[in-house]
Amino acid sequence: MTSTVLVAGSANLDFVVRAAHVPAPGETVLGRDFRTFPGGKGANQAVACARAGGAATRMLLALGDDDFARPIEASLHGAGVQLHTVRETGLPTGTAFICLSDDAENAITVAPGANTALEAGHLPALDGVQWLLLQLETPLDTVLAHARAAHAAGVRVALNAAPAQPLPAALLAQLDLLIVNEGELDVVAGQPPDLATGLARLDVPCVIVTLGARGSLARCAGRTLLQPAFAVAPVDTTAAGDTFCGTLVAALARGDGLQHALLAASAASALACTRLGAQSSIPTHAEVAALLADPARVPDAHAHAALAAWCAL
Ligand code: RIB
Repeated sequence: MTSTVLVAGSANLDFVVRAAHVPAPGETVLGRDFRTFPGGKGANQAVACARAGGAATRMLLALGDDDFARPIEASLHGAGVQLHTVRETGLPTGTAFICLSDDAENAITVAPGANTALEAGHLPALDGVQWLLLQLETPLDTVLAHARAAHAAGVRVALNAAPAQPLPAALLAQLDLLIVNEGELDVVAGQPPDLATGLARLDVPCVIVTLGARGSLARCAGRTLLQPAFAVAPVDTTAAGDTFCGTLVAALARGDGLQHALLAASAASALACTRLGAQSSIPTHAEVAALLADPARVPDAHAHAALAAWCAL
């Protein structure tokens, strides 16, 4: 039987301008190459999950009744995501304003709009769903209610704690899997002195911290796993973390072990960094498989040792 992943979360239309550098506070920079892209952490993760293959992907999202919603819906449909759409007439579709620098740094401001209208009661029936994947661009009380409902129904719950905010213990108690980057780990684990302490402070069965171009570190059921990053020349890192989360949960849903899921998620997120935009940058299963089949590009034992040393393991 095919597994099903339900993503409940945000969808935004991204307004992207490229510039020599991201402006400092109070600074104006002249940019170029303005474009819009379908984005939003929830929708990006749904697209990554669907493109990863092996699991059917559904998404609960709230959109405005406006033109910004159309490219988002088209992108999700194009990736094969089945939608449960809350149509919010009183609010615009969520938007994100992204400045992308020539050295692939970015700064993102989100205007959540219709994403704020997602409520506990909007969660669809969970029959046949194995995993619920959540983020923090929708109201925290809604995220908690959805996590509680899924946990009570025996559905495994994954949270990508982005954008960072302190998490109530009641939410952590619903989770099977928590995925954070280093900045998010600082916030959710209360400024730990090091990675191992941060991971140990979180009472969740499996916690993964992504380390950007270094790779990722997981603590799961008493085991520590490392996955060095694939080396790429980054163009745009927008949605790299979302690609990691969606690909990882798809892999777990289709029955992969955690080490292989980390490998596939790392490969997919590396490829996403080589392309412009959010959902437009997310690779297909075939593209990820091609990268994994190239022994010259898969991180070797030296990369594992270097990452272990950097993580002080
Ligand atoms: O994680 C990247 C995403 O963050 C962008 O697509 C933007 O919409 C914001 O939600």
